[in-house]
Amino acid sequence: MDDFDFENRIIAPEFSADDADVENSLRPRTLSEYIGQEKAKENLSIYIKAALLRKESLDHVLLYGPPGLGKTTLSGIIAREMGVNLRVTSGPAIEKQGDLVAILTNLNEGDVLFIDEIHRLSRSVEEILYPAMEDFSVDIIIGKGPSARSIRLDLPHFTLVGATTRSGQLTAPLRDRFGVLLRLELYTPEELAKIIKRSAGILGIETDDDGALEIASRSRGTPRIANRLLKRVRDIAQIEYDGVIDEKVARAALERFEIDELGLDEFDRRMLSTIINVYGGGPVGLDTLAAALGEESITIEDVYEPYLMQIGFLSRTTRGRCVTPAAYEHLGLERPEGKNDSLQQKLF
Ligand code: ADE
Repeated sequence: MDDFDFENRIIAPEFSADDADVENSLRPRTLSEYIGQEKAKENLSIYIKAALLRKESLDHVLLYGPPGLGKTTLSGIIAREMGVNLRVTSGPAIEKQGDLVAILTNLNEGDVLFIDEIHRLSRSVEEILYPAMEDFSVDIIIGKGPSARSIRLDLPHFTLVGATTRSGQLTAPLRDRFGVLLRLELYTPEELAKIIKRSAGILGIETDDDGALEIASRSRGTPRIANRLLKRVRDIAQIEYDGVIDEKVARAALERFEIDELGLDEFDRRMLSTIINVYGGGPVGLDTLAAALGEESITIEDVYEPYLMQIGFLSRTTRGRCVTPAAYEHLGLERPEGKNDSLQQKLF
């Protein structure tokens, strides 16, 4: 278990180089092709129509939620529906104020600028964004020392689409400058099954409804994982079966990948069993848990916990993380009597 390969975790929701070709061919291009996120889609559709009617650029949009849910895809859809160009960058890629000024001054009227991981912008770069978002202008300093002067450059009206795993990580002045806040939720297995059927159609993979649903229910609410598992299951279907993905083939393939019926892999099971075996089921503080597992706290919080909480296996309390009775049952472990019962009863 100590050699768990985080880099190649098959159900990691983060983007990996292997996903690039498939994600690009599978990305829905319009809101009507986009499956799920009904609330975000409905709101966005109204704002886009209204902006088009007024012949204005769309208000700045903040997309937040766990990784792999389609934030980059949605930014592309926004640009396409508005009939403008998309410029893609990310918080860590913009190192200096000058980098951002160069990007902003090269935009055309109405363009969409997508900044992924916007919470990772440095404070000084972020300060350039404030007047850019609010007044479509930037102040730049020319020269040094006593002869330095500040000049104001006008920018085209553009739409900033920012993406972050948690809106709480943004500074208040930045968050307040977004007119539209859209929270993306984990997808239901039925929505993921539709996405898998669509992707299978594009990639020429034969899948029946039960096969798609089997992959979907082990994809942790995340389209990126669903599409990745579809590709891997296809390999097994072609080499060991007749190429068609039905329930039996999907089940056999996923068992081979050690992804259980709920989409948990070795790491999830290790995390839950560590809380149970080492910390009596919790509560245990996030940093303590992260150290015991050899992972970063932020990764545990953003990547592993959302799904475990969604399926009701983990709860975050003010005193730390607790495993729920449902998780004990799933792992086939007995709940200890006594020590935690009163706490467990209070929590659940
Ligand atoms: N592929 C990845 N995410 C998708 C979505 N939400 N709808 C359709 N296809 C997708």
